[in-house]
Amino acid sequence: MGETVRKLETTVYESILSTRDGIMLRVINVVGARPNFMKMAPIIEAMQKYPEQFQHLLVHTGQHYDEAMSKSFFVDLGMPKPDLNLEVGSGSHAAQTARIMMEFEKVCLNHAPDLVIVVGDVNSTMACTITAKKLGIKVAHVEAGLRSRDMSMPEEVNRLCTDVLCDYLFTTDHFADENLIAEGVSTEKIFFVGNVMIDTLLKHQELARGLGLIEQWGLKPRGFATLTLHRPSNVDDPAILRGILDALNEIGKEIPIVFAIHPRTRKMVKQFQFGEYLSSTEKPQGLWVTDPLGYLEFLHLNMNAMMVITDSGGLQEETTVLGVPCITLRSNTERPITCEVGTNVIAGNSKESILRHAFRVLKGDLPRGKVPEKWDGRAAERIVQILANLDARPIVPHRIAGPML
Ligand code: UD1
Repeated sequence: MGETVRKLETTVYESILSTRDGIMLRVINVVGARPNFMKMAPIIEAMQKYPEQFQHLLVHTGQHYDEAMSKSFFVDLGMPKPDLNLEVGSGSHAAQTARIMMEFEKVCLNHAPDLVIVVGDVNSTMACTITAKKLGIKVAHVEAGLRSRDMSMPEEVNRLCTDVLCDYLFTTDHFADENLIAEGVSTEKIFFVGNVMIDTLLKHQELARGLGLIEQWGLKPRGFATLTLHRPSNVDDPAILRGILDALNEIGKEIPIVFAIHPRTRKMVKQFQFGEYLSSTEKPQGLWVTDPLGYLEFLHLNMNAMMVITDSGGLQEETTVLGVPCITLRSNTERPITCEVGTNVIAGNSKESILRHAFRVLKGDLPRGKVPEKWDGRAAERIVQILANLDARPIVPHRIAGPML
C-alpha cells in the first residue's frame, strides 16, 4: 500500500502543475454522526450552486446508523442521499476509528479527490482527516479551533488531531481563531466564516415553527424544558447519572421535561436500573422520555422551551441564536462564545448546581443573549466562495483514479 501511494504522489506534481487551470475541484464531503448532518447540509447546497467549479461526493461513514440518529436527518434537511455509506457502525474508539480509516482509504484511492471536507469533532472527522492527509490529499475542517482544554473528552482529541493536519480551517468565532493562532497555525490557513449549523437552523426555523407538536403533546409555550444527555462523563458513572436524574426529577415537579434520549444513555439507564426516574405517562409530564427526535421536531420544541438542559455542543449554539436559556451539564465548553454573548451557562453535573441554575430560570432570571458575529445564515456560502478561489492543488492524478461516481 505504502508503495502505491508513493508512486501516485510522484506522478502527480507534473500532471497538476500543467493542468491545474480550469479544472473543477473534486471534493469528498464527509459525514458520520448526527451532529455532522446539519453542518454539511448547507455546504452541499452552496456547492450545488457552482456546478462548473465543484464535483462532489457525499460519504457517510455509518458511525451513526439508527433511523432516528441518521436517516431521518437526511429527509428533514433535504440532503442528498450519501453516494457511499461505509457502514462502520459502533465499536471502541480505536476499532471505530480504524474501521473508518480502512474504508475511507479505499474511497480516496478510488475517487482521487482534490479536497476532503470534514465537519465537527466526531471520530469520523478525525479518522477521515488522517486518512486523506496520509494520501497527500488536502483537507478542510469546518468548525475548526474549538477547544475545551479537557483531554478526557474524546472530541477534544479529535479536534486537536484534525486541526493540526488540515490545510483550510474554517472557524465560527474569535475564540477559535485565537486558539489556532496560539497553537502556531499560520493565519493564511484560518478563515472566520461563521457557523454552518446556524445556516441550517435559520433556514428551517419557519418550517419547524408550524409543526404543532407542542399543542399535540399538551405543552404550553415556555412552559416546559427539553433535555439531551449522552456524554460518557455524565452517563457512564452511576453515581453521577443518579445525581443528574435526581436534579431533573426535582425540576420535573415544576415543569415537564422532554428527554429525547440518546441510544447510549438508554443503554446506561437500563444497565444501572434507573428506569424509576423516568415518567411513564403518555404525554410529557415530569421527566418524560421519547426516542431521539427528528431535526425539525426538536427545533420546534427548543424554540418553544423555557430552557434547554444539555451536554451537547451544538445545542449551546442553537439556543444562543434562539435566545432560549441553556443549562450545560459540563464543567467546561469548547464554545465559550455562547456564554460570552449568548444564553448559555456552564452548570457542571452536580445535583445542587443543576438545581441552582434551573431554578434561577424558573424564577424568571433569564440570561439575555446576542447572536455572535457572522452567525447569519451565510457561513456555507462564504466557505464555498473561498474554496472556489483556492489553489487546492490535486495531489493524486485524475487519470489514475476512477470516476467520481
Ligand atoms: C458521538 C460523538 C459525539 C457526539 C455524538 C452525538 C465521537 C467520539 N462522539 O457520540 O461527539 O456528540 O455522537 O450523538 O465521535 N448507538 C446506537 N445507534 C447509533 C449510534 C450509536 O445505538 O446510530 C449507540 C451504540 O451503543 C454506540 C453508542 O451509541 O456504541 C455510542 O455511539 P458513538 O458513535 O460511538 O458515540 P456517541 O456517544 O453517539
